[in-house]
Amino acid sequence: MEAGYINATAKATAEILSEYPFDYVLLSTHCVDGMDCYVPESKRGRDKETAYKRYLETVYESVSDSVLADAYDCVGHIGYIAKCNHYEDNSFPYEMFFPIV
Ligand SMILES: [Fe+2]
Repeated sequence: MEAGYINATAKATAEILSEYPFDYVLLSTHCVDGMDCYVPESKRGRDKETAYKRYLETVYESVSDSVLADAYDCVGHIGYIAKCNHYEDNSFPYEMFFPIV
């Protein structure tokens, strides 16, 4: 099972996950500030560094959310935002964001 992280629905997500005997649960961040990274408008005028940093902050928020602490087994596709292809260079230089990573 893959569960998408959204802060506002974390409690409901945890409740649903606890109701079923899933073998393995991925907790993935697709949405940042209320919009899926796949949607071009999610850039909102943000340059790549700003958008990627905000994405990683949201991933960090997901793994720090105590409501979901026991609800998942692994974090899914940390580089999701780079797959969305909104910038000329979509490489994800994790070293630029080392404190968050
Ligand atoms: Fe996903």
